[in-house]
Amino acid sequence: MATADVAIIGAGAAGLAAAIFAGETAESSGSRSIVLLDGAKTIGAKLLVSGGGRCNVTHEVVAPTDFFGNRRIIKNVLAAFSVDATIAWFASMGVELKREETGKLFPVTDRSRTVLNALIERCCELGVAILSDHRVTKIARVPDSPAGFVVHHSHGALAASRVILATGGRSIPKSGSDGLGYELARRLGHHVTPTVPALAPLVLDDRMFHKNLSGLSQEIELTTVVKGKTLDVRNGSLLWTHFGISGPVVMDASRFWCLAHEQGEPAEVHGNFFPGENQEQVRRWFMEQTRDHPRRSLGKTLAQRLPQRFTDSLIQHAGCDGQTAIAQLPRKDRDSLLPLMTKFPFPIVRDRGWNYAEVTAGGVPLEEVNFRTMESKLVPGFYLAGEILDCDGRIGGFNFQWAWATGHLAGQAAWRPDAYQSDRIDP
Ligand code: FDA
Repeated sequence: MATADVAIIGAGAAGLAAAIFAGETAESSGSRSIVLLDGAKTIGAKLLVSGGGRCNVTHEVVAPTDFFGNRRIIKNVLAAFSVDATIAWFASMGVELKREETGKLFPVTDRSRTVLNALIERCCELGVAILSDHRVTKIARVPDSPAGFVVHHSHGALAASRVILATGGRSIPKSGSDGLGYELARRLGHHVTPTVPALAPLVLDDRMFHKNLSGLSQEIELTTVVKGKTLDVRNGSLLWTHFGISGPVVMDASRFWCLAHEQGEPAEVHGNFFPGENQEQVRRWFMEQTRDHPRRSLGKTLAQRLPQRFTDSLIQHAGCDGQTAIAQLPRKDRDSLLPLMTKFPFPIVRDRGWNYAEVTAGGVPLEEVNFRTMESKLVPGFYLAGEILDCDGRIGGFNFQWAWATGHLAGQAAWRPDAYQSDRIDP
């Protein structure tokens, strides 16, 4: 049977980072045997499509509040591999990053391929054996043996002293991340919290007016209420599409709706099309308009503040006539229209599914790993990194930063398992 000191399962962002840091740590000790296995025929599919083909590598400022999960643990993991460390690490591999206005960092080439090639080349320099088309089906423990584990894959088996599991989540299953990794972790005794799509577009009831607005983007304040409790309020760009709603603010908020839906809890998402103003302020503005420009049509009045196409659809949705002079607007029409402007209930029927979600919410609980090493607290010599863990970030490069940071910790520690013992949480 083939053998390795460290076997890494999954050659996505986290697995590649883990392989490089294991390789670099091993380099100083003179010997190395690191094997990176991936079920996909060609590796890096998700990295290549990321950031619209440009790969949003990280963000200029990364804080625990950019993530969902146990934030105390997330804080400690992030602190061990800062954004500056990420920038320097990529520079050391010949990848210069540039900052965009939004704070997102991309390779100066604007090509994901630059990032993927650099990671693969570095693995090769370090002698990491990359085995594509090697889907892992089982990880067996071998108690009382230096081998530690036998990793069963589609072409046989590999005996390894340490194993790093970096199989990602469930998003874009055809890229190779289809959720089997959760089963591998579960069979070793780990728990897996419910996994649902995050950073996902949302599908609206077919009777809604979204189709007419397809392609239109507008600023909004989006609120998610679950079981009568407000869980999330955020501002940003909403994109109307042929199936419903998308855009950064919707994608970021989607995890809350998806989790509630999965748990069978009543969830509502409503939008304020006048972000920063409440219903009373908008009502006052509307009454001022009625007083100052009584003959202006309802349509023209609203179009001063909202996109024309949206205005037309909203007025029709409320059952009003856009041509009516606002001073002539029946009170019942005003009463049905005004609340929709600041508390519009989106009739969500479902999320758009794993083929469109960018990440997975849920996974192996962070409490089950030592945050200094990413080593399992249940299975010595077994490490977890990346999206398989119960942590998801918002849009903007945060999910890759999580992959680099956890890959860094796991890779270093898997090579030198005795160097890190403490599991103290910094407050
Ligand atoms: P990832 O899913 O990347 O890799 C897991 C690997 O494991 C895969 O190669 C898979 O083939 C392999 N594997 C799975 N099961 C296996 C098994 N049983 N045996 C062997 N191999 C197995 N984030 C960000 O920060 N900036 C961005 O710009 C984007 N853009 C973006 C766009 C799109 C369309 C998507 C879908 C996602 C993003 N993301 C993103 C999210 C980001 O891509 C994601 O969080 C990371 O790739 C996660 O890295 P991992 O290495 O954990 O998993």
